[in-house]
Amino acid sequence: MLGQKIESGEIDVQNVSKSYGAGPMAREVVRDCSFTIERGKLNVMIGPSGCGKSTLIRLIAGFQRPNEGRITLDGKPITEPSRDRLVVFQETALFPWMTTYENIVYGPKARGTFNAEARDRAEFLLEKVGLVQFREKYPMQLSGGMQRRAELARAMINNPHVMILDEPFRGLDSMTKELMWEYYASLFEESHRTNFFVTTDIDEAVFLADRMIIMTNIPTRVRAVLDIDLPRPRKLGDIIENDRANDVKMQALAILHEEAMKSFSGGSAAATDFVEAYSRRVDRRKRSDDNGQSD
Ligand SMILES: Nc1ncnc2c1ncn2[C@@H]1O[C@H](COP(=O)(O)OP(=O)(O)OP(=O)(O)O)[C@@H](O)[C@H]1O
Ligand SMILES: [Mg+2]
Repeated sequence: MLGQKIESGEIDVQNVSKSYGAGPMAREVVRDCSFTIERGKLNVMIGPSGCGKSTLIRLIAGFQRPNEGRITLDGKPITEPSRDRLVVFQETALFPWMTTYENIVYGPKARGTFNAEARDRAEFLLEKVGLVQFREKYPMQLSGGMQRRAELARAMINNPHVMILDEPFRGLDSMTKELMWEYYASLFEESHRTNFFVTTDIDEAVFLADRMIIMTNIPTRVRAVLDIDLPRPRKLGDIIENDRANDVKMQALAILHEEAMKSFSGGSAAATDFVEAYSRRVDRRKRSDDNGQSD
């Protein structure tokens, strides 16, 4: 398959701490945090809003340096941004004056590496993200979901050793979002490149992840790592009905619920999302158990 010969990387985050500001104004955002972004896997990080996930991404991408600890890619310290570690952000970064196709091939063209192989890969990606019919359209002529898909293709054409995604589907309506999960999962399944995907959406995390890294509240560190050994390729219909997926979801929600409760006293509004999601699930479970007993 296209792009498979690119080697995937593995990132190690070891005892990393990060504070913003200095002296009495200093705020610790990440505290003694360690985890591995495993090679060839779809590693999903989930944590309460504002806990420090994007901060970790900035450190891993090399935009910022930790105050303490070490971050390495295949054993080599990360000291600056590099094409090895491409980041896709929540905001679209497509150039409005370029067509879908021009946007997708931008990276190789800018580097002067737009050869026959890159051209084939561009065609392959256009098809994979369902934008063949929209190749000559400009970003303004695409829906929000199409723009995100174009952006995924635009990043993937560069064959990074590690793909890093910071809530790339945040803000999309739920139907478009679910469609995006399938597109993105199939892109991952095509290459099995190392991916690091950050989210606050539990359904997104369960659907996508090989491993779910669950974070504490700020100052953040890893609270738990769950392996999600659901079969691939993943399709929404299969996962919604899957008992194992539901068990993992409950387990993760219980942990996130604890973290959210801790941050209630700090007045975090985001915490309510997890508490509500958890309560709804517990209610539903209880109802189905009650029904089971009365049968
Ligand atoms: N450059 C900065 N200077 C000072 N404080 C910052 C800076 N960047 C982030 N912070 C603070 O660090 C904390 C964590 O922010 P961060 O963006 O990493 O969280 P997050 O988990 O990505 O949140 P969200 O889920 O909302 O995207 C926040 O309280 C934020 O205000
Ligand atoms: Mg963020």
